[in-house]
Amino acid sequence: MEILSVNGGKPLYGTIPVSGMKNAAVAVVLATVLVEDKCVIDNLPDISDINIALEILSVMGAKVKMLNPACAEIDTTFLKPGSSPYDLVRKMRASYYLLGAELGRFGRAFVGCPGGCDFGVRPIDLHIKGFTALGADVNVEGGYIEATAKDGRLSGDNVYLDLVSVGATINTMLAAVKAKGLTVIENAAREPHVVDTASFLNACGADISGAGTDVIKIRGVDHLHGVNYTVIPDMIEAGTYMVLAAATKGKLKVTGIIPKHVSSISAKLEEMGAKIVEEDEAVTVEYAGPLKRINVKTLPYPGFPTDMNPQMCVLLALAEGTSIITEGVWNNRFRYVDELKRMGANIKVDGRVAIVEGGESLKAAPVRALDLRAGAAMVIATLAAKGHSEISDIYHIRRGYEDLVGKLGKVGADISYKDIPDRQDLDQAN
Ligand code: UD1
Repeated sequence: MEILSVNGGKPLYGTIPVSGMKNAAVAVVLATVLVEDKCVIDNLPDISDINIALEILSVMGAKVKMLNPACAEIDTTFLKPGSSPYDLVRKMRASYYLLGAELGRFGRAFVGCPGGCDFGVRPIDLHIKGFTALGADVNVEGGYIEATAKDGRLSGDNVYLDLVSVGATINTMLAAVKAKGLTVIENAAREPHVVDTASFLNACGADISGAGTDVIKIRGVDHLHGVNYTVIPDMIEAGTYMVLAAATKGKLKVTGIIPKHVSSISAKLEEMGAKIVEEDEAVTVEYAGPLKRINVKTLPYPGFPTDMNPQMCVLLALAEGTSIITEGVWNNRFRYVDELKRMGANIKVDGRVAIVEGGESLKAAPVRALDLRAGAAMVIATLAAKGHSEISDIYHIRRGYEDLVGKLGKVGADISYKDIPDRQDLDQAN
């Protein structure tokens, strides 16, 4: 079993480049299913979720060639519908985009139920509502989802999403791109990855307007064509390193980003007393004295991102005074708090609210990465805590952070992978 071995307590200084955005890249890669042509997708992060998405497409009959580690040529001309392998689909939440993409291209879809991080019930009823509104029959049975367009091709219609959902917005958009007539998605998610997926599809010849607002209009087209496309930078990877700078009392310049995408994070760090300098494609975060308490509420974009909840909680544990985090998106996102308590944090959770009594420094301890962003929080916490810590279950972290150890090593972090015997092996050895 591989773990992360961390010797923390040192301020980190230097420049960290940000990779392509995971949540945009998975959507764009799977959206190529609609294209029936060759696309070249650049700035793909080298993370396991992207490798899985590309492998799924290969198994389905797409020709996938890596032109370099960040750039894939994907030809989906001879893709077979309904052929995604369950063992790969269940490893990744975003595999549900195959439903919208297959339905849009073939008029039918057959996909295993998706996997991903576990933070409570993660329903897909709104995705199904979108497909149904466009004229699909949808059945969920035996771990699979089957959707069929009643007349062989979907028809545009109005879709009102009861909750702001990134997944349901993108999936409805994918299904509608080749549907007959006009689809209007109301109460759409405004996240940058929704905009990026729409930009990719428009570059392929789709007719989508309003992405980035809460009303998206999609006029169906008959054909899409291949393009070269570059994925946007990852605002959550950027945010993670911004918090890391303040948590380790250092100074990091996070580069290759779109500063507007991280403005809610910059604002909160500034409120805590960190110094923020914004440039065209970079943000520098510098620790500038004791961190102040603040309250944070996670919300859909442009609100403070739920995917920064765990990382921010670490920083609040290091701040002076009592802070409150309210989780506005997921029901069960605070499981990581028990791991922080092992490091001496004083945090009480009541439903969707965490009360963080700051002021104490964190102490080195063995901790687990319970999900992707919880894992990122453990990296920050162990680098901030003096002494030796170990993080297990790091496969979660590999899902979303490219070359984490390499990037952190370059700014002075003492963090490395270490192989230790599995508990099972130990049991056998005993
Ligand atoms: C995406 C991100 C995830 C991030 C989340 C919120 C990907 C692969 N994952 O997840 O990292 O945490 O956005 O920014 O891009 N909901 C329903 N019914 C549905 C769909 C969602 O009730 O059919 C609810 C969810 O339970 C949740 C809320 O809507 O409370 C938001 O979920 P959603 O935006 O859909 O999250 P994902 O797209 O799964």
